[in-house]
Amino acid sequence: MAEQRAQWGSRLGFILAAAGSAVGLGNIWKFPYITGENGGGWFVLIYLMCIAFVGLPIMMAEILIGRTAQNSPVGAFRTLSRPGSPWLGVGWLGVAAAFVILSYYSVVAGWAMHYTWISLTETFTGKSPEQIGDTFDALFESPKLNLFWHTLFMAITIGIVMAGVRRGLELCAKILMPTLFLLLLVLFLYATTTDGFGKAFTFIFAPNAEKLTPAGVLEALGHSFFTLSLGMGAMITYGSYLKREDDLVAASITVSVLDTTVALLACLMLFPIIFTVGLEPAAGPGLVFISIPIAFAQMPGGALLAPTFFVLLTFAALTSAISLLEVAVSYFIDERGWHRVKATLVCGGSILVIGIPSALSGGTKLFGESFQSLTKYLHVNEGKGFNWFDFFDYVATNWMLPLGGLGIALFAAWRVGAKAREEGFKAGTKFAKLYWGWVLLLRFVVPIAVLLVFLNAIGVLQRLGLTGNGP
Ligand code: PFF
Repeated sequence: MAEQRAQWGSRLGFILAAAGSAVGLGNIWKFPYITGENGGGWFVLIYLMCIAFVGLPIMMAEILIGRTAQNSPVGAFRTLSRPGSPWLGVGWLGVAAAFVILSYYSVVAGWAMHYTWISLTETFTGKSPEQIGDTFDALFESPKLNLFWHTLFMAITIGIVMAGVRRGLELCAKILMPTLFLLLLVLFLYATTTDGFGKAFTFIFAPNAEKLTPAGVLEALGHSFFTLSLGMGAMITYGSYLKREDDLVAASITVSVLDTTVALLACLMLFPIIFTVGLEPAAGPGLVFISIPIAFAQMPGGALLAPTFFVLLTFAALTSAISLLEVAVSYFIDERGWHRVKATLVCGGSILVIGIPSALSGGTKLFGESFQSLTKYLHVNEGKGFNWFDFFDYVATNWMLPLGGLGIALFAAWRVGAKAREEGFKAGTKFAKLYWGWVLLLRFVVPIAVLLVFLNAIGVLQRLGLTGNGP
């Protein structure tokens, strides 16, 4: 066991670190493109409801479990149930998810770093859309570039996590998060001056259900897990460094509001730019890496805006990556009694290696096409299968996080002792009145919602003819 358990230096430090975990590629890369694909409007409204009624209660449950047990996920389930209990499986799943998610997350973060670099050295200004498309293809297909940036990003993440809770995680969040908000604000203010702003605002907020499918609704629900870093114990881990008397309800609300604000601001900044130069909002995953550079290339001030945006994306990815690695590291510190330096090097090093096939997915037959033809037999992705990178993303977001989230909700609502649950929720909060509402959401609404995501992921709803497009 660790001699003395680490703790956050301040409440603000915890909130910034938790917000740092939540705000990431999910907000600035994924949310805008799924909003674009689902036609904005209703999709955004449904997403907001998922955050409020599913994500937020689970976040409170995670922080409560971690703070009450003062232990990382596996140990927390043991402390609050009993040794050898099947609930420990939820903790194990979380640790496994940390390895899986960070291994490919780091590859995308590497792209953001590469784009920061080329926007500074070569600039996109004056390049044609074809040239910019080629830049992305060249990166995607290059084993060398992918491996280089993946390794560099992991090395930075390892360095920060190794420095510990206060001097690493908290200090980094205190510097990077305010910078991130500032950069986002600058880009947002710029976007308000463009011609496309009005059109973008209407696209995002006007109630338009045209493109929304049941699968889109479930996508919003699934994404609310990923974006708030739920279902794998990241918030259990961060909550375990919190003092017992801190107000977890207010902290969870603050983190969720910050996360949602960043996601909406990202849309309000990206779509005006896209509309101003006449591009499509439904550009898919290439929105940020192809459409946005194309737009910047044509805009006044683009040479400055582009590096600003990609630094923002890199910072957002870094604070999330830190939390992913911390889940794995805290397990080895708490359960195996390892020193932080050893735990960080071993976990970070393993994730670096596990990420290699993802880094090579675009450029090698082995992890791209050959792997894809293997996964065809799983009948995923409309029978097309996935390359290694997409497969990991699919397994983590469709299986591991919803399953973990379901386990956490059920555990907090039914298994944690009633007294510990109530006292934990009410400690130091002015929101004590919300207690029963929270318990009811966790007991009934969350499990049903998560079960639906899960059934959609395994294609059951699709087979019953209830959703248009399944996984
Ligand atoms: N919330 C992060 C994002 O939106 O990019 C991703 C993430 C971080 C998921 C940490 C899960 C996690 F534990």
